[in-house]
Amino acid sequence: MKLCIIGTGYVGLVSGVCFSDLGNDVICVDKDLSKIENLKNGIIPIYEPGLDELVIKNYKNKRLKFSTNLKDSILKSDIIFICVGTPTKKNGNDADLSQVYNVAKEISKLVKKFKIIVTKSTVPVTGGDEIEKIISKKVSKKLFSVVSNPEFLREGEAIRDFYKPDRIIIGTSHKKTNNVLKNLYAPLTSRGAKYINTSRKAAELIKYSSNAFLATKITFINEIANLCEKINVNIEDISIGIGLDKRIGSRFLRAGPAYGGSCFPKDTKALVTTGDKFKTNLTVIKSVIKSNKNRSSLMLKRVFDILKNKINNKNICFLGVTFKANTDDMRDSSCLSMIPALIKKGAKINYFDPTGEKSDFKKFKNVIFSNNIKDAIKKSDLIIIHTEWNDFKTINFKKDVKNKKFSIFDMRNIYSVNKMKDQKIKYFSIGN
Ligand code: UDX
Repeated sequence: MKLCIIGTGYVGLVSGVCFSDLGNDVICVDKDLSKIENLKNGIIPIYEPGLDELVIKNYKNKRLKFSTNLKDSILKSDIIFICVGTPTKKNGNDADLSQVYNVAKEISKLVKKFKIIVTKSTVPVTGGDEIEKIISKKVSKKLFSVVSNPEFLREGEAIRDFYKPDRIIIGTSHKKTNNVLKNLYAPLTSRGAKYINTSRKAAELIKYSSNAFLATKITFINEIANLCEKINVNIEDISIGIGLDKRIGSRFLRAGPAYGGSCFPKDTKALVTTGDKFKTNLTVIKSVIKSNKNRSSLMLKRVFDILKNKINNKNICFLGVTFKANTDDMRDSSCLSMIPALIKKGAKINYFDPTGEKSDFKKFKNVIFSNNIKDAIKKSDLIIIHTEWNDFKTINFKKDVKNKKFSIFDMRNIYSVNKMKDQKIKYFSIGN
């Protein structure tokens, strides 16, 4: 099939590359010329394990093309995927759909024969109706159909998630469109992925509800971890104990810092706004947002407690600063509030992240990037393990930290409390 993917961010690039790998002819379009030139040269704008090899392989065999020419790319394709960003509006909580609507306007100028327009960008319920309205101003409704096909890729696991999705959600009541998309996804459904055809609005709500539910699950376990800390119970035992109940399930029950990333914070806020729009008070999700916001302050308070409120001139090392491991994404990482708060109190921060130095911290004099773990931790009074990269799991702290009175705050519970005790290391973790 001939596909055009508009927007080469996370969702667009991964989907485009994987669709081409499944044998389709794919043009990935972006208005950012340098990004497109880099992609043509095999330079990938994001850190995603395995993506570079797939880009190079499929670009070489010419199934995958990169272009800045939207018109040409749309004209050559049967299915157009809208994969542009829908960030939170600057002054508000709802999603900013201007990029999606601009693309819809451009598409409306170009449709001359039947096209399927698929929204993979996360758009709130009724977003698809609005896209249809924009296009139908210039094009007969017989010549296009607008489908919602939400994406559930996790950063760091995106390729695996594309090939082995738990489900494929297709929101359309248009029979022909549904059949075309069923064919497109046949290589995945034949390997066991479930294909669900539903209404467009239901598909849109499924995406938001999934992310809001997962955010709720994490927030729930984080609050139970707070209780564990008071009553000397280990949160890991609780996660295992409740996760084995099949009705609950064991995943997304790892207590840690505030959840972050490009989806959970923005989608929970946008869902509450949708609820308000339709006069429905989504109190659970509102509490989740509030609890997660408090979590960064709570984590900061724990750091103050560990250092007995003596923060001035303390050397604090962060291992990992992105919102989670296996990504270079800083969006809504809890470090973005914790590090400035600590330097305000006089701390000296060293950090190491396997994905390199972050521009977010360059403006701070007392925040230094070390390009290896040993350098980052050697002078530390406190080491904060902020993400769970494998690189952080086998550090010989006793040998590599020169300051003998150091402490560790493991925000991802990757080390064993007992082993740390045996080594006489001052070790603090979450929910313990
Ligand atoms: C998420 C959804 O999982 C994905 O389906 C959606 O399409 C995009 O948003 P992503 O943001 O890449 O994916 O990360 P995810 O692995 O879901 O983690 C999100 C946040 O939750 C991170 O901050 C992570 O550290 C945190 N988390 C996750 C926990 O704190 N505990 C867990 O058990 C799982």
